[in-house]
Amino acid sequence: MTKQISFLGCMVFLCAGCTFTPSQPDKEAHIIPAPVYLRQTTDGASFSINAKTPLAYSDNSLRETALQLSAELKTQTGVALPVEEAPSTFRTKSIYLELTDRITTPEPLPETFGISPKEANPADEQYALHISADTLRLTSASAEGIYRAMASLRQLIGVSTFPVQLPALQIYDAPRFAWRGLSLDVSRTFFTVPEVKTVIDMIALYKMNVLHLHLSDHEGWRIQINAYPRLTEIGSAIPNRNRKGGFYTQDDYRELVRYAAERFITLVPEIDMPGHTAAAFASYPEMKNAVPSGSATNSAGVNMVALDPDDPAAMLLVKNVLSELASLTPGNYIHIGGDETFGMPKEKYERFVEKTRNMVREEIRKNIVGWQEISRTRIGAGDVIQHWIALDMEGSLESPDVASAIPPEMLKAMKELFAEAPGDITRAIEKQARIIISPARFAYLDFPYRETGVDSLQETERQRLGLSFYPRTTVEESWNWNPTTFNPLIEATHIAGVEAVIWCETIESISDLQFLLLPRLSGVAEKGWSPQETTGWEMYKKRLAGQSPMWEKAGWNYFKSSLIDWE
Ligand code: ACM
Repeated sequence: MTKQISFLGCMVFLCAGCTFTPSQPDKEAHIIPAPVYLRQTTDGASFSINAKTPLAYSDNSLRETALQLSAELKTQTGVALPVEEAPSTFRTKSIYLELTDRITTPEPLPETFGISPKEANPADEQYALHISADTLRLTSASAEGIYRAMASLRQLIGVSTFPVQLPALQIYDAPRFAWRGLSLDVSRTFFTVPEVKTVIDMIALYKMNVLHLHLSDHEGWRIQINAYPRLTEIGSAIPNRNRKGGFYTQDDYRELVRYAAERFITLVPEIDMPGHTAAAFASYPEMKNAVPSGSATNSAGVNMVALDPDDPAAMLLVKNVLSELASLTPGNYIHIGGDETFGMPKEKYERFVEKTRNMVREEIRKNIVGWQEISRTRIGAGDVIQHWIALDMEGSLESPDVASAIPPEMLKAMKELFAEAPGDITRAIEKQARIIISPARFAYLDFPYRETGVDSLQETERQRLGLSFYPRTTVEESWNWNPTTFNPLIEATHIAGVEAVIWCETIESISDLQFLLLPRLSGVAEKGWSPQETTGWEMYKKRLAGQSPMWEKAGWNYFKSSLIDWE
């Protein structure tokens, strides 16, 4: 079967902050995130890819990337294109990967805001993709930019059977934000290395460049630490909703780092501290609890725990854990958690974050990320906070469901936490910390879906998955926001990047995880990459519909929202 991809119409609009007037691809172009600039030539020309079309590269440093593209296209189409080096001559009738000093664009690309997770130049991700009757050329100043171009090309090809005709077009593209990620909770539900690799494949397809792994929480400790073997002997197997538990050996973790790096994705490991540490306390009960007995109990009536900054044993554990983790982490950032320390005296919380921050910066030589509450401590330039408490979270604590499920002391502590939240942003900005944008309302992918699906067999999954604590939300509502305007306090220059977040209380399997990730993950990816102006809902939902054949081919479960006319 030959797939003819056509472009029916062009919409031209102004793009604030850039001089391009981008044209919007129609539904068949279905690229997510939408490129900054996409123009179809009008002569009807097309490039034909068949099973013999070579994947050629201009420079030996692109060999691995070319092999990667060949492997990814084989997964989609069943055909492995031959890979060849073509150093000096410009290749026609090939898919040509070309490294240049800098890509030439008709007009300047918009500025990229934010922080690169590996402190690279964000301009490395810029690329051009040109298709004419004779050539299909992916051009960038770096292999990383070529890889981002490949994600666009893969979506244009989809799951077509070769030969495929791709219409002549030009794309010039650059990310809006330098940090675009997914935070994955592997503590509530442990996912194996092959399962995490499928998540890396998903985020790679949508040009995300960070996988943030939530490696520890009350429910389980998931990373081998040589100096503290009980963390995994005991902490990875504590009773947790009849789930099987598990942990990554350091070799497993290195394999995930390698697999992600091949896709130009940086792992950001999180050890959630000083609260959320029941698994650590179960492993080393000799540590002192910084929460006074009786001051806060969880919904099971168990006293909350927090590591005590004045307990030398606890701080030694923190230092050893973070040092071992840093040695496994090529990126520049370690996430230290810092959220929801219910019942912990304020001064102790401040001292814990300050000591841990200084240790990470001065001894371990990485930068910290922490959930937004760390803005209430002595953080500063170079630190990153993750904004999660959306402005309307306070109200949700008033619901009768919440009041019946949460003990009064705990509810009081939660209300205090949320009441202080708007001040967190002001404090972070004053302290010159940068902000990862993960407002729960839009970026938490464990909100239950509101609209029904088109497949009635999915109704039990839809009812079961997602935290009932959160309001049900439609795919459109969770997509319809702008990282630079949803909160009037936050400007583009304050932002480090955009992260989707998924917590796994209700999730029992990789299939459950995929059901909540897709289709919303690609929407958050678009908020991180595309200029806001290119992303109207009507066009977006057509592009989204075009993604499902790839998900089905990959065997990824997804929610067939009735708002989308799935292909
Ligand atoms: C969080 O959702 N507690 C960061």
